[in-house]
Amino acid sequence: MSSSQFTFSIYLLTFAFFLQTIFGVSPPLYNICSGSENFTTNDQYESNLRKLLGNLNYQTPPLGFGLGSVGWYPYQTYGLALCRGDIAAADCKACVNEASNEIHKRCPYNKGAIIWYGNCLLNYSNKDFLGQIDNENWFYLLNVHNVSEPTIFNQKTRELLSQLAKDASFSVKKYAAGELNLGLGESTKLYGLAQCTWDLSTIECFQCLDDAIDQLPSCCDGKQGGRVVGGSCNIGYEIYPFVSA
Ligand SMILES: *[C@@H]1O[C@H](CO)[C@@H](O)[C@H](O)[C@H]1NC(C)=O
Ligand SMILES: *[C@@H]1O[C@H](CO)[C@@H](O)[C@H](O)[C@H]1NC(C)=O
Ligand SMILES: *[C@@H]1O[C@H](CO)[C@@H](O)[C@H](O)[C@H]1NC(C)=O
Repeated sequence: MSSSQFTFSIYLLTFAFFLQTIFGVSPPLYNICSGSENFTTNDQYESNLRKLLGNLNYQTPPLGFGLGSVGWYPYQTYGLALCRGDIAAADCKACVNEASNEIHKRCPYNKGAIIWYGNCLLNYSNKDFLGQIDNENWFYLLNVHNVSEPTIFNQKTRELLSQLAKDASFSVKKYAAGELNLGLGESTKLYGLAQCTWDLSTIECFQCLDDAIDQLPSCCDGKQGGRVVGGSCNIGYEIYPFVSA
C-alpha cells in the first residue's frame, strides 16, 4: 500500500473512534464493491439479497457468525457475517444491522460486496466463496507511534501472533486473544488477537492468519500497534489491552 493509503487508514481509525462515542456504531473502516456484475432494481437477485441479509441479521448475533445462500442460479446469492470474537450479542446485532444498511448505500447494484467495521464484517457475492480463503481483499490500519527497539519488538509481535494464529485455528470460535511479556521501554506487555471466518477449516484458518502475519513488515513495521484485515481472517496488536478478555 502507498503512504497516502496509510494516511487514509489512520484518518479513518481516528474518525471511527471519535464517532463511536456519539452514535454507538462506528462508521465502516473500509468497503469494496465488486464491480464486475450489477443487478437492476426489482430483479430476482435483489430480493434474494434482501432475504439473505435478513437471515444474516437474525442468525449472526447469538454466536458471532452466520452464513448462507438464497435462491437459484443465476440469481443465487451467498453471504457471511462475522463479529469480533469478544463483543456482546447486542453489539454484534447493531453492527451487522448497520453493515447491511450501509453496504446497500455504498454498493447499491453490485452483486458482490464486502464491508468491514471494528466490530464486524459482512460479505456477499453471486459466486460461492464460502469455505475459500479470500486472498485478494486486504487492508491495514496502524498506530502511528514508533517503538524504540523495532527489531526485538517486531520479533515479539510475530511470536505472539503466531501463537494466537494456532490458538484461533484450533478453537471452536476461530478466535483467540492474548498477551505477551514485552519488558521494553514502551510497555511491559503486548496484546494481540487473531480471528477467522468459521467457514474455514483449521488448516485454512491457520494459512490465512499466517499470510496476514507475513504482511506485518509492509503494514506495521516498528509501530506500536496495527491490524492486518482480510475477508477471511484478521490479526491485530497493541501495547495496551484493546479487546475484552
Ligand atoms: C456497475 O455499476 C457501477 C456503478 O455502480 C459501474 O461503475 C459499473 O461500470 C457497472 N458495471 C457493469 C458491468 O455494468
Ligand atoms: C467477499 O466478497 C468479495 C467481493 O464480492 C469476493 O471477492 C470475496 O471472494 C468474498 N469472500 C470472502 C471470504 O471475502
Ligand atoms: C516514526 O518514524 C518514522 C521513520 O523513522 C518517522 O518518519 C515518523 O515521523 C515517526 N513517527 C512518529 C509518530 O514519531
